[in-house]
Amino acid sequence: MAEENVVVQSQADMWELIFAFGDSMVLKSAMKLGIADIINKHGSPITISQIAEEISSSPSLDINYLFRIMRFLVSKRLFTSEHKDGDTFYSLTHCGKWLLRDAEFTLAPLLEMQTHEWWLDTWHHLDKCVLEGGVGFEKAHATGLWDFASGNPEYNKLFNQAMACTAKIVVNAVLSNYNGFSGVTSLIDVGGGTGMMIREIVKTHPHITGINFDLQHVLATAPDYPGVVHVPGDMFVQIPQADAVIMKVAKKELRLNGRNYYKMEDFLHTKSFQFQHYNLLLKLTQ
Ligand SMILES: C[S@@+](CC[C@H](N)C(=O)[O-])C[C@H]1O[C@@H](n2cnc3c(N)ncnc32)[C@H](O)[C@@H]1O
Repeated sequence: MAEENVVVQSQADMWELIFAFGDSMVLKSAMKLGIADIINKHGSPITISQIAEEISSSPSLDINYLFRIMRFLVSKRLFTSEHKDGDTFYSLTHCGKWLLRDAEFTLAPLLEMQTHEWWLDTWHHLDKCVLEGGVGFEKAHATGLWDFASGNPEYNKLFNQAMACTAKIVVNAVLSNYNGFSGVTSLIDVGGGTGMMIREIVKTHPHITGINFDLQHVLATAPDYPGVVHVPGDMFVQIPQADAVIMKVAKKELRLNGRNYYKMEDFLHTKSFQFQHYNLLLKLTQ
């Protein structure tokens, strides 16, 4: 590449990086306006005026902003646009469907949490983490993640819903790929959030008694599920006994209740399981 082209290209790359936050912010706006759900409910390609009508009947709605959001998200392949009879018709792509709120499988709650000011604030401390060590969340909020959630019901809900939506996707992959539940009669999900993962396992394997173990403030908002008992507690103190443990963690090894847990390699290496880098099925050693 000629030198002047290298300079132009590198500058373009840098502009893209500088404005990368815009991707998340536009996505967040689209999610808050419910655009994906509007398109989905319509059932066929839809014009921008039809989307606008569904968003609000307010005369102050600015369709130019909406147009720019749509154009951007078409370029990001969340929506497609088709020009017909002098108008533009928008549809959802497979990627756009993850933005649906009104869907069994969705990543909208994760987007909502990750783009919330509480979570974004932590990124502003990344340089300090390098200089001083420590955790960005604690620097931003002067308290740990779990304590913050326990004192802030809105954040607690935001966080738990974000976890539950990813747990639903993960457990679906687990249930289609893992055959080891037949010999298990009681299963505990340690740090199981509001119980999405264990609920789905027990629904598919009703011979299992499910225990959902998490902190008190999380379980206070957890729905009741048939076959699942919610048990509050601190995993670093004690967890209830069960045949097996399931846990979505980043660590590869763990010691709980004075026992070692190990990961089940066959589970981790199932071909279609997309979250193997941070999901481990752990079982009590003898
Ligand atoms: C990353 S979230 C995962 C939630 C759930 N397993 C999932 O995959 O959706 C970690 C969970 O661990 C819980 N947790 C954190 N510290 C804990 C502790 N000391 N004892 C029990 N649960 C804890 C949190 O409240 C949170 O629900």
